Amino acid sequence: MCGIFGIVANEDFDLGKALIEAGKRLSYRGYDSVGCATVAADRTIDLRKDVGQINAVSERMRFDEMRGRRGIVQLRWATFGTPATRNAQPHLDCDGDMVGAHNGNIVNNVELREAFIAEGHTVRGENDGETCVHAVERHFDRCGDMVEAIRLAYADLNGDYAFVITHRDENRLYAIKKGSGLVVGLGDGVTCCSSDLPSILPITRRTLRVRDGEVVVLWPEGFELRSVTDGSVIAREPEVYHGGMAAAEKGGYPHFMLKEIHEQPQLAGELLHLLDNSTDAPKFVEMLRQSDPLFFVGCGTSYHACLLGAYYVNKLAGKVAVPALPQQFTEQYGNCLGKAASVVFVSQSGETKDVLNAVKVARARGATCLGMVNVIGSSLTHVTDLHLPLACGYEISVPATKTFLNQVIMFLYLADRLGTMTAGAGLVPAQGDHKGAPLHALPDLLARTIELTAPAAERVAARLKAWDDMYYLGYGLTHPIALEGALKLKEITYAHCEGIFSSEFKHGPLSAVRPGYPVTFITAPDDVEMMINHVNEVTCREGLAIAIAEEDERLRKNVNEYLVLPPAGQLLNPILATVAVQLVAYHAATARGIDPDFPRNLSKTLTVD
Ligand code: AGP
Repeated sequence: MCGIFGIVANEDFDLGKALIEAGKRLSYRGYDSVGCATVAADRTIDLRKDVGQINAVSERMRFDEMRGRRGIVQLRWATFGTPATRNAQPHLDCDGDMVGAHNGNIVNNVELREAFIAEGHTVRGENDGETCVHAVERHFDRCGDMVEAIRLAYADLNGDYAFVITHRDENRLYAIKKGSGLVVGLGDGVTCCSSDLPSILPITRRTLRVRDGEVVVLWPEGFELRSVTDGSVIAREPEVYHGGMAAAEKGGYPHFMLKEIHEQPQLAGELLHLLDNSTDAPKFVEMLRQSDPLFFVGCGTSYHACLLGAYYVNKLAGKVAVPALPQQFTEQYGNCLGKAASVVFVSQSGETKDVLNAVKVARARGATCLGMVNVIGSSLTHVTDLHLPLACGYEISVPATKTFLNQVIMFLYLADRLGTMTAGAGLVPAQGDHKGAPLHALPDLLARTIELTAPAAERVAARLKAWDDMYYLGYGLTHPIALEGALKLKEITYAHCEGIFSSEFKHGPLSAVRPGYPVTFITAPDDVEMMINHVNEVTCREGLAIAIAEEDERLRKNVNEYLVLPPAGQLLNPILATVAVQLVAYHAATARGIDPDFPRNLSKTLTVD
């Protein structure tokens, strides 16, 4: 994710304090490293940065002592380059004349870096933010004009990003937007720009949204917007933000849960990018390959990701992975663990006590402990041999949404790589083959899923309001999504909802069906025929059948409500269906007047047995 904030004023002031304050408000966007750069009236640049979270780094590096007229703070979520000081942002150019920072991803970073090294640039790390600085520097050295240099650099830098830079000779900040968020704040004798509105609001409520392909130039009393295409000036009036801070933190959404659901397309893309460039991912896959037996362990939503992960590993790599709850893992399999076993512990927080207890058991028996974790620096990152970050930023809402999605995407990615390694056939390089859409189509497919399913999810949620008991049924790959949909619904509506394997329904639970009784069927395309049998068991008893699936005429004829997913094929279908169950749960909660972000009796992180 990453976050950037830049500010420019008329004279030197306690800039460090302002940058710490802004950085804290952006802290949810990255906590691998933090850096601050200030430029004083005498043109000196003070750059301080280190690995860690904003509180610790700002204290260690004494950001509060930094003074100057303009400054930049960056919070990094590592993608290109390990979390190390040399890769922490902001970055200087070769001669220390410019300093800049970005968020997002420069997908041709490796090629550009090599070109800069060959041209004799002083490249200090592997980070793509540094690449942005050198890209501007290269053109500035030829043309001597910052806007022109940024426009030319824009053509060199592929990917989605926002970028802020300043030259020590001019009291101006320059920022550009392509794909990532960028907001400008226009105060009294001070202007600023940021990845996100909450860091701007303590300074001013006069704001301006920068659009893709625009360069913004900021000076203490004003701004100018320029088109990246031809450099022409763009006229746009600033707006005055009237909402409160809480609303700003929710990014305009009524709840964090909805905001986090909507973040999923972007985060999926960032995760795939991270995995494509990670040196740890291949090591992780190799450890999975060598393991015998292999376990996937997590609680609640993370356990459901483990279940789907086991399906993916079976289907793509022909390998058995045993999904288990932590206590179940200990009680049922603890005695059989040895040095050849590997356990992937999956956790958003990395602090769940049940999970950490199971790590101790696995460690004591000499098993390899791997992690999939969102919170970098959490206990799980310290007790595992190797971990991969889920790269979702802070998940504030108690119901896990975006972290589940990146867990299952990570499982699919790893299973595919494992399959490529063991059988020579994987999903990633395939383009629309029999397995369906390519994995890298996910960000667009997820965005389309939100668009397609949101209205139907709201309508279905309204129909569910009258019921305090219902079922979610899935078959094969969608069974974990049925469990997840049921958990989401229980968690934030307080109604009872059970997720089961659809073929099991007739073995008992079917007796609950009566006229209007809601049963949701989630099916991947290859399982539709089988699912129609299960649907009919409900509809012939006048139950309410709700389908979550790709468009299928046969299914449509048999159900009462249909949440249509974009066509994506067997393997990606469960990932898209996740979005639909999240939206249904969200709307079901709000329809009952429940705040989905903070359901009663629950806590985001469970550090008790
Ligand atoms: C899901 O919406 C829950 N909040 C819960 O089940 C959660 O997934 C579980 O407590 C595990 O948490 P973790 O991923 O942080 O370990």
